[in-house]
Amino acid sequence: MSIDIRKVSFTYLKDSINEHHALKDISLFFEDHSFIGIVGETGSGKSTLIQHLNGLLIPNEGEIIIDEFKIDSKKRKQKNLKNLRKHVGVVFQFPEYQLFEETVLKDVAFGPKNFKYKEEEALAMAKDALASVGINEDYYDKSPFELSGGEKRRVAIAGILAINPDILVLDEPTAGLDPYGVEVIMNLVLDLYNKGKTIILVTHDMDLLLKYCQKVVVLKDGEVSYNGTPKNLFDNLDDTSSIDIPFIYSFIHKLNERGFNIKPSDVTSIHDLIKIIKGRIKDNG
Ligand SMILES: Nc1ncnc2c1ncn2[C@@H]1O[C@H](COP(=O)(O)OP(=O)(O)OP(=O)(O)O)[C@@H](O)[C@H]1O
Ligand SMILES: [Mg+2]
Repeated sequence: MSIDIRKVSFTYLKDSINEHHALKDISLFFEDHSFIGIVGETGSGKSTLIQHLNGLLIPNEGEIIIDEFKIDSKKRKQKNLKNLRKHVGVVFQFPEYQLFEETVLKDVAFGPKNFKYKEEEALAMAKDALASVGINEDYYDKSPFELSGGEKRRVAIAGILAINPDILVLDEPTAGLDPYGVEVIMNLVLDLYNKGKTIILVTHDMDLLLKYCQKVVVLKDGEVSYNGTPKNLFDNLDDTSSIDIPFIYSFIHKLNERGFNIKPSDVTSIHDLIKIIKGRIKDNG
């Protein structure tokens, strides 16, 4: 499913003294089966933008077209939102906003039940989704609120996976996780992408962006300030940019200061870098 965002603007608390123009005339097109990163400083509008993709927020201006679904700012009532949410799953930035049932299993089964699957089927789907995020049956009867931050995040992701959406939108899914936790989540996301899903990843982690995303959108004050490949973004950063360079790029920079002469654009992951360094060491005898 492709996503076509046309001239979308959104204002919080419209017509009040606190009104805030969070999105200003955003136009973006994401092809089917793409892996897109969305980055930008805090408050730039990332979470606001992605909440438009399944109609949690409705634009004040513009429209969003996702296959046969259309969210139109001009319509007072949006049609078919429930159906759209079967296809576009959004995992919130703060898992606490998403978890609400008494137990982990019930929480994850809520989505399929809501989409009219029978109790037994919904539970089976929930168990599959929990297994895929590495949550085993010891957790089924726990309250989601007694879990650690990383566990809550995984249960929240499972809650969306249980619906089996075509487009998976993840708002900072690795925030606060240790490196192993990040790897578990990103391996899962990559696997879902390889199975044909479209992935939209909001992140502050530039190394993840470089490693996984085909395209990146940078938001600045509610506007698109960059839309292209991650490599091109990092190759052309200037000192005034609020975007950090990936750790791997600063590492290459340090190696180059010691005479390595490695092109950052040849490297997307630590594995690439190790290969290049090994090759150079071999060449030098
Ligand atoms: N419910 C709300 N009511 C009023 N203003 C809001 C609300 N939610 C967000 N905003 C404002 O809209 C702007 C964009 O917020 P948003 O949460 O989309 O940013 P973000 O890019 O996701 O930031 P972060 O990286 O901190 O998650 C911010 O200035 C924020 O203060
Ligand atoms: Mg956010």
